[in-house]
Amino acid sequence: MSKRIGVGLLGLGTVGTGVVEILQNPEGRHPLVKELDLIRIGVRDPERKRGVEVKKSLLTKNLEEVIDDPKVQVIIEVIGGIEPARKLIMKAISLGKSVVTANKAVIARHGEEIALAAANAGVYVLIEAAVGGGIPIIEPLKQSLGGNKIQKITGIINGTTNYILTRMTKEGMSCEEVLKIAQNLGYAEADPTADVDGLDAADKISILSGLAFGGPINRSEVLTKGIKQLNSQDVAYANQLGYCVKLLAIAERILKGSQKEQSLPLAVSVQPTLVPNHHPLAGVHGVNNAIFIEGNPVGRVMFYGPGAGAGPTASAVVADLLNIAGISQLNSNHKNLDPLLAASSWRTCHLVKTSEIIQRNYIRLKAEDNPGVIGKIGSHFGECDVSIQSIVQFDTSNKEAEIVVITHQVSNGKVQEALMRITALKEIKGIESHLACL
Ligand code: NAP
Ligand code: HSE
Repeated sequence: MSKRIGVGLLGLGTVGTGVVEILQNPEGRHPLVKELDLIRIGVRDPERKRGVEVKKSLLTKNLEEVIDDPKVQVIIEVIGGIEPARKLIMKAISLGKSVVTANKAVIARHGEEIALAAANAGVYVLIEAAVGGGIPIIEPLKQSLGGNKIQKITGIINGTTNYILTRMTKEGMSCEEVLKIAQNLGYAEADPTADVDGLDAADKISILSGLAFGGPINRSEVLTKGIKQLNSQDVAYANQLGYCVKLLAIAERILKGSQKEQSLPLAVSVQPTLVPNHHPLAGVHGVNNAIFIEGNPVGRVMFYGPGAGAGPTASAVVADLLNIAGISQLNSNHKNLDPLLAASSWRTCHLVKTSEIIQRNYIRLKAEDNPGVIGKIGSHFGECDVSIQSIVQFDTSNKEAEIVVITHQVSNGKVQEALMRITALKEIKGIESHLACL
């Protein structure tokens, strides 16, 4: 026998509108979509014209009213931001209502508190839409890849910056020009700083890391660099060297000797990174996202698709709703949570210091164009145990040369030590840029 599910929607912006479009048009979709009744919708301004037709009586400014409504069993939170989103999610949980949210900012910062409250209340908080837009990645990490020991996650997980980088590279447009287009398309966050400064990607990699490695991490410790400072000269040089530049979010298990540590050490970062043109992530363009996972025994798998926008994100929100609807068809006692669907952590993880993160590097130096300069640079790198993969001199003018160094894998600490020594050389005019290299 089917059981109808009362849904309360908090937010009717880009994502909320996409969700309503699916709920209003159930034909051709899974039959459970028809079982979902949209009961109330909370917005800031009920008078505002919307992208979908909804009965005026459904709309309210009072978000608590949506949660309190006895006909509402599941809450969709798509208002964004930290507060009042956190408070509203906690209230829904306290009333025994499951929650579906696309809000990575709140989950990356308050995920532990929310997961604990949900487990105690016997309800689900599902977050498929919080990472990767329409790409199924949260459930695969919890379920389909559950038998693996995950080694590394490398992701392009911000659609706005990937869209910006793609159009900057292909059409030579400025970052500001493309950002405006991305905002009009509904990809960017309400405050686009979160996108361009890498904060949104840092939220998302924190969430993925917690799921992949089994324990939450401290979001504020993630090494985070955005694309605002990215120089188009570096994009051009990267291209000549056989690379493209992507904003990569990486979470990697660090192997420290053979002793078993109580807490798992991880290196987690978000940085503009040179990606070799032959790497699968180099082919991810526009608003698309991709998450490349290395695990044992699965090997390498890549999840790819549209990372932002109304339709893709709503697709993920509705998938979570269907999971909850499906379970409620089977079992009215939500206290027995499915452990593979509910959030669970089973160990502690900690982040290693930034100086201990190991990566390849792209470094562009401005130097005097004199004999012996490249030799001196090479010596300092060598003395600091930094192995150089290639060193190339680019444009020269007024006796000045641009020298690009690509290193092998080395700790950030050693590179910083070498760069300090190199900067002190009288022939060096400055370190123009320093990017990660995959
Ligand atoms: P949005 O277009 O700005 O919509 C936000 C909605 O929430 C609006 O309807 C707004 O009401 C309502 N709202 C916000 N604060 C409110 C408050 N204090 N009281 C009452 N109503 C409030 O945002 P969005 O792009 O849909 O994003 C929603 C969430 O999904 C965010 O957490 C975002 O990070 C996440 N997300 C977005 C995307 C995407 O592609 N856009 C993709 C993945 C995840 P009014 O309409 O009346 O102003
Ligand atoms: N602003 C985000 C992005 C939305 O551009 O990826 C999807 O989370």
